[in-house]
Amino acid sequence: MTRILTVPTQPIEGQKPGTSGLRKKTKIFMGPHYLENFTQSVFDAIGGVRGKALILGGDGRYFNDRAVQVILRMAAANGAARMIVGQGGLLSTPAASNLIRQRKADGGVILSASHNPGGIDEDFGMKFNGANGGPAPESLTDLIFARTQELSEYHILETADLDLTLIGETRMGEMIVEIVDPVADYAKLMGELFDFDLIRNLFIGGFRMRFDAMHAVTGPYAKAIIEGILGAPQGTVVNGTPSPDFGGGHPDPNPVWAKELMDAMFAADAPDFGAASDGDGDRNMIVGRGVYVTPSDSLAVLAANAHLAPAYAEGLSGIARSMPTSRAADRVAEKLGVECHETPTGWKFFGNLLDAGRVTICGEESAGTGSDHVREKDGLWAVLLWLNILARRIEPVEQIMASHWKEFGRNFYSRHDYEAVPVERANALIQRLRDIAGDLPGQQFHGLTVESADDFAYHDPVDGSVSKHQGIRIGFVDGSRVVLRLSGTGTEGATLRVYLERYESDPSRHDLPVEQALAPVIAAADEIALIREFTGREKPDVTT
Ligand code: G6P
Repeated sequence: MTRILTVPTQPIEGQKPGTSGLRKKTKIFMGPHYLENFTQSVFDAIGGVRGKALILGGDGRYFNDRAVQVILRMAAANGAARMIVGQGGLLSTPAASNLIRQRKADGGVILSASHNPGGIDEDFGMKFNGANGGPAPESLTDLIFARTQELSEYHILETADLDLTLIGETRMGEMIVEIVDPVADYAKLMGELFDFDLIRNLFIGGFRMRFDAMHAVTGPYAKAIIEGILGAPQGTVVNGTPSPDFGGGHPDPNPVWAKELMDAMFAADAPDFGAASDGDGDRNMIVGRGVYVTPSDSLAVLAANAHLAPAYAEGLSGIARSMPTSRAADRVAEKLGVECHETPTGWKFFGNLLDAGRVTICGEESAGTGSDHVREKDGLWAVLLWLNILARRIEPVEQIMASHWKEFGRNFYSRHDYEAVPVERANALIQRLRDIAGDLPGQQFHGLTVESADDFAYHDPVDGSVSKHQGIRIGFVDGSRVVLRLSGTGTEGATLRVYLERYESDPSRHDLPVEQALAPVIAAADEIALIREFTGREKPDVTT
């Protein structure tokens, strides 16, 4: 027997989606009515789910399984026609985006706090993607938030849990629940984009790779595609079984959190190629033998070489990068003679450009790269494109980087993060920069003369919308740049991000240590923004 319950509730404070959905401590999400309120608000904000089909899955973190059951029961009570769920409640973010598009669903709910740690004392998250497969635009997240502030009831079916391990169709009340293999459709898409035969030959020839899934959702995907379809030896994928707390780790693929991979790639017997992905599979990290490739450089290299893969053989329509991402990709766009766009942080800002066919490849400094094949960044896609390029060029990563820099110049780049800064102090730092930006041009700091300074506002060329206050940009006469903004994905206090960049055209200086190349920019940033004074910190918590 099933029964629809209408449960009275009250608005819960703070259910405001950030850069990438609603992220909170897991215990908050597990609190009374918390998940239910937010789910009902999402359903209401999209005009209800009656008769609709939605995709549902998550990265397998703690509470994923419980949340899937609750959302299914609420979808059923709200009249959804069909829910397509990844087996075991699992779906990587790019695979969910793909399924929304393949199955022409009305959207999808993805449960993840991305690269944030998981577990009962860590983070949980929930985001909604629209019918194009992309993250909800700000107009919709504003509606969702508004709804959370006025909600007075939600609907939920009183029924037993569904067994999510069995692939196939079943019912929950009137609603059809279709449980699908989370990997199959995604693997098929990858096979259409890349030259799998060529990559298979690379492995047959003894090419060695290490893919670190960081105990997160890409494990099953990487095993099926890299070891299964592409024939890499077993053991190529490490930490490949998703665990609810990501093995106690921090599933963020950067040199700090993926240290195990870095160590392996800088060891004497390092494999030819290393890669990692994050909690929900949308981020990537690329490492060659003894060389780390920054996400900004990776975007530029992928854009410059994409034509080597079948899906991009005809060339790119354009390239987009988020504002704080280094301008290495701009130089590639210029050479290719294609459009180049600078968007605010957040993958959602690429959606319109991709939908309008204005760009083919997009990327962010935060380890996200992707293309028009889905509407999310896609970790494994980036790794496979790299493999396709390596299989065509038959050169070590180090050589590919050196020749890229020789051709385009090198944008030295680093990001300094100051975490859990008291919100008022972080806001005051940014507000002060807004106030003084107009006076900065012409002033000198550590030998660098400011050329321009502003608070970035994005004018979407497709729908004309304007997004203001996206971060402070300070450009110097020699082409160096500092960007400062507050993270939109943290769950505790504020995280100040300082992005530092310096352009160098002289190949004899391309081997300088990054910190050394950036030293004047780092010093100028501190002097202009009074970072130490405002944060009370002597140095950043994380440098990537
Ligand atoms: C998520 C978003 C990205 C964004 C990143 C960093 O991964 O999907 O688009 O670049 O967070 O955001 P933050 O606001 O923390 O710098």
